[in-house]
Formats: sequence, C-alpha cells, structure tokens
Amino acid sequence: MKFAVKNGNPEKQRTACVVVGIYESRRLSPAAEQLDEASGGELSGIIRRGDMDGKLGQTLILHAVKNVICDRVLMVGCGRERDLVDRRYRDIIAQATTTLNNTGATEAVSYLTELTVRGRDDRWKLRQAVEATGGSLYQFDALKREKDQPRRPLRKLTLSVPNRRDLPDGNRAVREGAAIVEGMRTARDLANQPGNICTPSYLADYATSMGKNHKSLSARVLNEASMAKLGMGSLLSVSAGSEQPAKLIVLEYRGGKKKQPPIVLVGKGVTFDSGGISLKPGKGMDEMKFDMCGAAAVLGTMRACVDLELPLNLVVLVPTTENMPDGRATKPGDVVTSLSGQTIEILNTDAEGRLILCDALTYAERYEPTTVIDIATLTGACVAALGKIPHGLFSNHEPLANDLLAAGKAAADRAWELPLWDDYQDQLNSNFADMANIGGPYGGAITAACFLSRFAKKYHWAHLDIAGTAWISGDTNKGATGRPVPLLVQYLLDQVNTAT
Ligand code: BES
Ligand code: MN
Ligand code: ZN
Repeated sequence: MKFAVKNGNPEKQRTACVVVGIYESRRLSPAAEQLDEASGGELSGIIRRGDMDGKLGQTLILHAVKNVICDRVLMVGCGRERDLVDRRYRDIIAQATTTLNNTGATEAVSYLTELTVRGRDDRWKLRQAVEATGGSLYQFDALKREKDQPRRPLRKLTLSVPNRRDLPDGNRAVREGAAIVEGMRTARDLANQPGNICTPSYLADYATSMGKNHKSLSARVLNEASMAKLGMGSLLSVSAGSEQPAKLIVLEYRGGKKKQPPIVLVGKGVTFDSGGISLKPGKGMDEMKFDMCGAAAVLGTMRACVDLELPLNLVVLVPTTENMPDGRATKPGDVVTSLSGQTIEILNTDAEGRLILCDALTYAERYEPTTVIDIATLTGACVAALGKIPHGLFSNHEPLANDLLAAGKAAADRAWELPLWDDYQDQLNSNFADMANIGGPYGGAITAACFLSRFAKKYHWAHLDIAGTAWISGDTNKGATGRPVPLLVQYLLDQVNTAT
C-alpha cells in the first residue's frame, strides 16, 4: 500500500475515486460542496432524495458525476460534525477504506483529511489516516489455503492537504504513518502466528534476519548455555519444562552519536504460556500464544525506527521462551537465583513473565542506558483494572511516565498510570528467599510491577502492561492489535525532537 499527499480541487482529480465526507444531517463537507457546485448539484440532489443522509458508517458510490474528471465519487457518512473525535475519525477512514477496497478502484484521492477533528491538527489527521487505512486493510491469511482478497485491491491512497505549503509537513506525517503501519504489521504478523510456528527460535531467526537486512542494525542471540553461564537462573527456570530452547535476543540500532546512551526496550516473549505446573484452565488457552506480544511490539518498533532512520541509539531485548509443564519443569516452592543475585521463591509458575523480564532488565545495565521500557502481557489483573482500552503504565521516574502518557495521547494509543508505591512491596515477602514471584490476590498488576522495579534501580524505567490491549479476544475478531507500536514510535520521535 502506497500513500502520498497532494493539494488541489476535488473536481480536477484524474483518479479512479475521490472520497468526500457528508455530515449528519445532510450537510456537505467543503470538498463535497465543491463537487456539488461543479456538477450542478448532483450530490445535494442525491441527499435530498434520501439515498444518503450522512450518518456515521454510510457510504455511497457515484459514477460519472458531471463536470468532474474522476471515475467515481465515494460519499462517506461522518455523523455529527461536533461529535467528530479521534475514534470517530478513525472509524470513518476505516469505513472508506473497506468500501474502496471492494470497488474496482485501485487508487483514490481522499479529502477526509479536511474533516475537523476536535483538538487535532492537519499533521495528526494525515498520520492517523495512513494508520487507520493501513490498519484496516490488514489480514492474516498466511495459513489459509483460500485467501479472501478482492480482485482489484486498493494500492495507493493520496491524501489531500489544504495548501501547497502544507506539503512538506504532510509528507513527513505520511512517512511516519507508513512506518508505524509497517511496524504494527510486523507485530501483528508475529503475534498471530501460532505457538507451534512462532517459537523462541522463530523469533530469534526473525531478529537475526532483520539484523542482516539493515546496516545500522545488528542482532545477537544468546542460547541457554550462555544464559546459564551469565547466571540467568530466573529466566531459565521458565524454559526448564519446555522442549523448545529459550533465547535472549539482542538487537542494537545505531542511528545516534557513538557515545550517546541508548534507549532500551524489553519485550516479553513467552511464545506460549500454559501456566506451567500451575496450569491454566483450558478455556481460551489458545490465546496464550499472544503472550509474546511485548516481543512483537518491540520488534515492530525497531522496524519503524530503522525505516525512519531515527537519529538515536536503540537496543531491543527479547527474553523468549515457552512456559510448559513437564518432569523437568519448575515447581511451586522452587527457589532460583536471578542474574542480579537476588533469590526468588516461585510460588506460582504462571507468574512467569516477570521471571524472564527481571533477568533481561539486569542484562540491560550493561548498556548504561538512560531509559529502559519493558512491554509485557503481564497480568490478568491489569485487564480487570483498566479493561481493554489503555495500557497499564508504571514508572520509577515521573518525567518518563509523563512522556509516555503524552506519547500515547498524541498517537491515539493511550496508557494509564497505576501506582508503584512502596506500600505494596511487602506483598512480595517470602519466608524462604529474597522475594516471592507473586503478591497475593489484591493489586496483581501493581505487585507484578513492584517485582520488576527491584531489578530496575540503575536507570529510569517504565513498564507497560499490555495484557488487555495487545490482542482482541473472542471468536470473530480474534487477533493481535499491533499496540503499543504507535505509542512507542511516538515516544522515540519525541525524544529525537527534544534532543535537537
Ligand atoms: N500471560 C499471563 C497474563 C495474562 C493473562 C495476559 C490473561 C492476558 C490475559 C501471565 O503470565 C499470567 O499468567 N499472570 C498471572 C499472574 C498470577 C499467577 C499472579 C495472572 O494474571 O493470572
Ligand atoms: Mn503466566
Ligand atoms: Zn504469561
């Protein structure tokens, strides 16, 4: 899918389709108005006769509109103008995209970017239009023999900007949007692959090939022997019950100055979480193939960062393993020693994410980073607390938390902060080790974050719990969302802009 920006009158576009908005009730957007005038009132006539009244989600395709050069006009219902907020705007774009994709038009010029969205500027609308278009065309059919592809799919979308002088900014917005789309696609593809294909070795091979394809990027993979030698007893306790060997993936991107400390992103890569000996109930267990969505998100973010050639240094760490029951598996009550030297009593083998993340967080110290952010489908408790709308956010450094909250708002990929107060730390007390790996029935998302915070003392650190946001559950729409790639890429873009 290609994107471009352009400035010009809708009636003069030589294209397969011009896309314009109609507000409820029966009010034309400026571009629709222009087409209406040029054609001597064709659009308003149709509206008057009642074929379209601008309700959200309505679409109507017109052919051979008088005095208009394009082959078709797509009218898209936008609902009430004053209700047009982020989510509505994205819905409108997605609706237009699906309709276009099912007509014969393989390219189009869209004027939906001129709609007024509350509190948002042109750059935002352009970037979101690219993201919503790219996102709504996403399909995961790699494993289906019969692909459900339209005969003439949409291949190029040109977005309108109000003035010629908006073109440079517009191009930049589109370029960022396209990189985010690609990053999300990477994340979704990896996460949607089933656990028998997407194993720790699969993720490692994927990262290795990424490293080979870009000269600013290098990949390294630590195997179980090298992790054992380093002393990653916590991470290896999770893979003990699996036939698939665990890996620690290290991707290093150098786009900034040599001496500039990197930002480190750590992604939880549990390619299947059965719970281990603390086995999960059967219902919906298939969805635990998505327990590597943190890994998928950081790999997707790295991809976008490389595409945009961001002038910064970025390290991605992915501890990856399966969590399986077996004769060799870790048992409740076992005590292990983490890379940090701290000992952990594993009271529940299903609280495995923190066990692999803590060793990766300690490993991150060697980069002397300013900032480390981990991303993990960590707790069901986070979903209970916040639902499936925002990511749960925790941080030991308030400015970092604020930067991430702001990035989420700007990118329409929001997070919500939960408390990381010391008052909760006692819930992790153990009679037999430095700490337990679970904190009891209350505040489970918080005690999980408290656990991680004990391994993140040497740098500014934030933790995103994406258990509710990384995928859509259920029967019909089941699949990875690609979140929080937009938030993370926005954060990186903001870092570049504040540094220069
Ligand atoms: N991967 C799960 C968390 C999860 C559960 C994400 C459901 C999305 C949906 C994690 O490894 C886990 O099992 N967490 C336990 C922790 C508990 C044992 C303290 C949980 O949330 O139940
Ligand atoms: Mn688990
Ligand atoms: Zn898990």
